[in-house]
Amino acid sequence: MRVLVTGGAGFIGANFVQQTVHERPEVDVTVLDALTYAGDRRSLDPVADRITFVEGSITDAALVDRLVGESDLVVHFAAESHNDNSLDDPSPFVQTNLIGTFTLLEAVRKHGVRFHHISTDEVYGDLELDDPDRFTPETPYNPSSPYSSTKAGSDLLVRAWVRSFGLQATISNCSNNYGPYQHVEKFIPRQITNLIDGVRPKLYGAGLNVRDWIHVEDHNAAVWAIVDKGRAGETYLIGADGEKDNLGVVRTLLEIFGREPDDFEHVNDRPGHDLRYAIDASKLREELGWTPRYTDFRAGLEATVEWYRANEDWWRPRKAAVEAKYAAQGQ
Ligand code: NAD
Ligand code: TYD
Repeated sequence: MRVLVTGGAGFIGANFVQQTVHERPEVDVTVLDALTYAGDRRSLDPVADRITFVEGSITDAALVDRLVGESDLVVHFAAESHNDNSLDDPSPFVQTNLIGTFTLLEAVRKHGVRFHHISTDEVYGDLELDDPDRFTPETPYNPSSPYSSTKAGSDLLVRAWVRSFGLQATISNCSNNYGPYQHVEKFIPRQITNLIDGVRPKLYGAGLNVRDWIHVEDHNAAVWAIVDKGRAGETYLIGADGEKDNLGVVRTLLEIFGREPDDFEHVNDRPGHDLRYAIDASKLREELGWTPRYTDFRAGLEATVEWYRANEDWWRPRKAAVEAKYAAQGQ
């Protein structure tokens, strides 16, 4: 089977490619990645001689047409993925998340190739802290930011191509991921690398916002379960019952680093900051038999801390610029 992985030099994509090469040696992997600020070829070093890497954009219709034509399956991770950046400049979000997804859809339609679209739970907007409900595949779309609205738009394009053109496609909406190779702009790697540097973690606002954390390997195992056994045209929500408020995550990290529980600082809140995300993954669990392996969040976090300690040469080159950008925003 020949798989085209878009965004395979990013956080989740690189983990997906490494997992696939190790667990499915029969699969022939080609990565298409534009190597934006978020992509890093070094994240594929452990499998570099076992995959084909193509540097290019998913908005390049001729390139996409050729690569899709040579594939049996496309797994589409490529995106602009950071909310804070989307508030600063939404333009690349519209280009990549909307136009890029459209470009891929036209190619898979033409070549009749199976398509799996990776999306986020943020398309559903946010929940109140005390809401007993969680997101389900029936929850109405209500995105808040340029990031989540362009992801929502890309999901709707996929659904329309399924209905209008009979595309063999599935969609997954996953909650917040953590694990190795995540960019230091994101919450957990930013705090881990701050702590390694002896800098206090930075909490937006009061730190009461809740995210539903899942280890990246569990996300990717669910993606393969959907590709193997999911029904075309269906949407599956991926989550591992990992709700934590941001303050709780920071306190766990402080504990891992042997620091005092209040050794953090509050910084400016994010405008329009979504309060809470929470996933009901019953459909995935019951229909496809998926279960997460990383059920102990603290243990998963400890392993992630160890990875960032052991791979300082991977993240160090980006750290100063990320912190300078945040500092300019009072964050
Ligand atoms: P990331 O920012 O780490 O990686 C994105 C990758 O896409 C990078 O390698 C980048 O170079 C590449 N890319 C960007 N624009 C491109 C373009 N025009 N053409 C080709 N490649 C391009 O993102 P991530 O955290 O790995 O997220 C991957 C996917 O998973 C995204 O679709 C995101 O919406 C989704 N998702 C992420 C999370 C999370 O917690 N990180 C949760 C749910 C869903
Ligand atoms: P983030 O990793 O940006 O993911 P998302 O916005 O997609 O949920 O942020 C996760 C949570 O952490 C979110 O509530 C914002 C918060 N946050 C901080 O409190 N401090 C930080 O330095 C960052 C980057 C995020």
